[in-house]
Order: sequence, then C-alpha cells, then structure tokens
Amino acid sequence: SVRMTSSEITPKGILANQVAVVTGSTDGIGFAIARRLAQDGAHVVVSSRKQQNVDWAVATLQGEGLSVTGTVCHVAKAEDRERLVAKALEHGGGIDILVCNAGVNPLVGSTLGASEQVWDKILSVNVKAPALLLRQLLPHMENRWRGAVILVSSTAAYTPRVDLGAYNVSKTALLGLTRTLALELAPKDIRVNCLVPGVIETNFSKVLHKNETFWNNYKENYQLQRIGRPEDCAGLVSFLCSPDASYITGENIAVAGLSSRL
Ligand SMILES: NC(=O)c1ccc[n+]([C@@H]2O[C@H](COP(=O)([O-])OP(=O)(O)OC[C@H]3O[C@@H](n4cnc5c(N)ncnc54)[C@H](OP(=O)(O)O)[C@@H]3O)[C@@H](O)[C@H]2O)c1
Repeated sequence: SVRMTSSEITPKGILANQVAVVTGSTDGIGFAIARRLAQDGAHVVVSSRKQQNVDWAVATLQGEGLSVTGTVCHVAKAEDRERLVAKALEHGGGIDILVCNAGVNPLVGSTLGASEQVWDKILSVNVKAPALLLRQLLPHMENRWRGAVILVSSTAAYTPRVDLGAYNVSKTALLGLTRTLALELAPKDIRVNCLVPGVIETNFSKVLHKNETFWNNYKENYQLQRIGRPEDCAGLVSFLCSPDASYITGENIAVAGLSSRL
C-alpha cells in the first residue's frame, strides 16, 4: 500500500480526503476531537444519543466552515451503529478513521457494589461497543489504503480509583482491546492506538474537578498545575490518525498532566 509522509501533505491538511467517525462527539473530549480532525482536513461524522445534541454539534462545526455531518448513535445499539456506518458512507464510500470515545460510568462506588445491570451497561458501552462498531465498519475501512482506530481509556486503567470500581476495570480492558485489535488488524495496515486521558474538564468529570479536596490533592501530585482541557486530547488523536504516526500501533498514551504509566 502507498503511505503519505508529512512532506507530501497538501495545504488542505494532514487528514485531507479522509472520512472520520467519532462516537460520543457532541460534547467534551469527543467534540474537541471531531473539531480537530475536521480542522486537519477530514470529513467528520459526529454522533451521540440525543438528536438535539447532534444537531447542535453539526451546526456549530459547519458554522466554523468545517466538513461535518452527523447522526444519532447510542453505541450500545446495533441498529444505531448501522445507521452511523451508513451516514459515514454517504461521504466518499469508505471510512479511514474511527474514534471510539463514548463511555459511561453509571456508578460512583466499589466494584463489588456494582449490580449486574451496572456491569452490563459499563461493559456494553465502554468495551463491547468499540469492538462491535469496528466489526460493522471494517469492510468499509479495508478498501481504503490506510486506516486508524483510536480507543479512549483513562488513567484509571493504570491507577484504579477506589470510587470508580467497574469503570476502572472497563478502562483497563480497553488497553487489552487496543493491543489485541492492533495485532489482528496489522496485516490490513490498520493501526489501533489508545488515548488515555487524566482529569479533563467536562461534564463527565464534574464530580471530581468541582470537589475541593480532590483538587488540592491533585495539585500536590501533578506537576502541571491545572486540569486538562478537551483540546489537550485532540491534537494527539489527530497525530495518531495521521501519516506521521504510520509506524505506531498498539500504543497507549496518557494526556494527564503527568503520566502514571511506567
Ligand atoms: N473527562 C475526563 O476527565 C475523562 C478522563 C478519562 C477518560 N475519559 C473518557 O473520555 C470519554 C469522553 O468523556 P467526556 O468527559 O468527554 O464526556 P462528556 O463531556 O460527558 O461527553 C460525553 C459525550 O458522549 C455522548 N454519549 C454518552 N453516552 C453515549 C452513548 N452510550 N453512546 C453514544 N454517545 C454517548 C454524550 O452525548 P449524548 O448525551 O447526546 O449521548 C456526549 O456527546 C469517555 O470514554 C470517558 O470515559 C474522560
């Protein structure tokens, strides 16, 4: 297959002529990633569970002159995933980039405090959905001359937090999924890497960053004296999807103010 190098990039951007699908991309980290991939030249398909959020994200990004379309997709629903794939195929007939960002944590509490219902929700949205979406989308990625998949874990995978029991486990599973998929898809020249955010200021993490005790402790343990921003994650994802990262696969990288990875 033919790969571009960064010296061959057109002024249209490092991701020009690529189609990117980003899940959970109407707010927070996913929205910042969608915006950045589009700014770097990709056509981006945004998605999340609520139509009004999709409409808002599409209108906002199109208003910035970016090439963006969108559809509703609850990642744990097979028919929604099918619709997302169909939407992406409307633009150019193939898909080059998949960012599996949607993730949930329905319980602040211990692992053994989690009911079967909580386990099912966490595992199906956080772990099963990325693999199942990729399975549905793969035939349309294989026919392109490159492919990049990004999973979104958490530093809770490296250092579990006592109040995030089952969520910690799901995010650790994503590190394993990254490596396994990277191995399986390497012969197809599709790379699979993992973004590992620390505490990033979004609605999802409000319970942490609005908590004074947490923040004081955080400042003591982290060198960069601020909470991360969604945009801090987006550049790394664009890089990992770009030709500059064409020999990087199976990797996980923390965006966390200080890495807790060895
Ligand atoms: N923020 C942090 O500190 C932090 C740290 C480590 C890891 N992470 C991970 O980063 C990812 C994004 O988190 P965030 O902080 O950016 O969250 P956020 O600001 O709450 O945004 C979540 C986005 O996902 C959508 N969404 C939620 N459930 C969904 C589902 N089942 N299917 C499809 N879309 C769904 C939401 O829109 P709708 O409501 O319309 O569905 C929204 O667009 C998650 O995987 C999270 O585990 C976050």
